[in-house]
Order: sequence, then structure tokens, then C-alpha cells
Amino acid sequence: MIRMKNILREGNKKLRAICEDVKLPITDEDKDTLLSLLGYVISSQDEELSKKYGLRPGVGIAAPQIGVLKRMFAIFASDFEGKLFVIPIVNPKILSHSEEIIYLDGGEGCLSVDKPTKGITPRFKSVTYEGIVYNYKTKKFEKVRNTLTDYMAIVFQHEYDHLDGILFVDKVFNEIPNATCISPKDYDDLDEDDDEESTK
Ligand code: NI
Repeated sequence: MIRMKNILREGNKKLRAICEDVKLPITDEDKDTLLSLLGYVISSQDEELSKKYGLRPGVGIAAPQIGVLKRMFAIFASDFEGKLFVIPIVNPKILSHSEEIIYLDGGEGCLSVDKPTKGITPRFKSVTYEGIVYNYKTKKFEKVRNTLTDYMAIVFQHEYDHLDGILFVDKVFNEIPNATCISPKDYDDLDEDDDEESTK
């Protein structure tokens, strides 16, 4: 099980590596790593488990954040309309993206960045990706091609950047001309009782 002590923090050189493709077929060891990443994000969002093990809540985590320099990450997050996305992915590739730029209201966070960071990070409004995703229902890997927009596109690009040694703090700005702010507040029919800040 991944704990906070296993997560590398800003300043560690491994976070700056360009990660290597996961060799196919996927070994049991790589599969275990992927599932432990997914396990972390799921547990970290569980109030009881996060308290018990001192886990900082996150919606995504990439393999280099635990020192494994391979191209894989796991996302467990709901978009602002409440739709859950479970994306444990190996060898992701961004095939295309929108021209339109968005940013997350209040800026992003990261499990590898402890200091509070002011500023906003530009992301493409939508990305089309391809990769090998672990289907937790069938318990099999399958090749997937999909398009994500808005918040989920932001989360995906944040995790994808980790595989190329990029942290969101590398691209933080006070303002981004012509970019659209994406905020959960825009979805006002959602209940707002759980406003806890999530980090990736
Ligand atoms: Ni991160």
C-alpha cells in the first residue's frame, strides 16, 4: 500500500525523468504497481482510510511519483457533473487536443508538491488519448481511445505531464489571456457540502 512517505516530493530528481514505455505484455509487477496507484487514489478519498493512514486526498497519481519511471498513472475522479472516471492507464498517448485553453479555478495541486502554490495552469479544453486501460470490471487490460473534456481533461494532462518530468508548478501563471476558467461553482445544481480540496 502506498503511503505519503512513499510519494516523492518536488526536488527529487526522479520526478524530472522522462519515463519509459511499459514493456508489453504487461508483467504482473507492472500491473501491481498500476493497481497500487489506483488503490492510493481510491483510499485517499475514503474519509476513514485517509484519516487512518494519513493519506492526502488526490484524484490521480503517476508512477514516477513513487519512483517507478514507467509510463503509467491512475485517475479516480468525478467530473463536475458527478460522473465517475476510473482510468488506470499504461503507455498513454495524447493523439490530439483542442485549440481552446482552460484552467482550473484556484489552480491545481499535486501530491508531490507540499507548498501551497498560487496561480493557474493552462490546459487544453479537450484531449483525445489512447492507451492500455485496466478494466476493473472485467479485470483485463484493453486498448482504449477516448476523449476527455474540461475537468477530466485537466486531470489527464496533469498526470500525463508527470511521465515527462513536468510538474504543474512549472507552468503556473497569474493570468492566461483568452483561457476559460473551469469551476465546480458553475455546476450549481450539485450539492456543495463536500468542498474539500483535491490534489493530483
Ligand atoms: Ni501531480
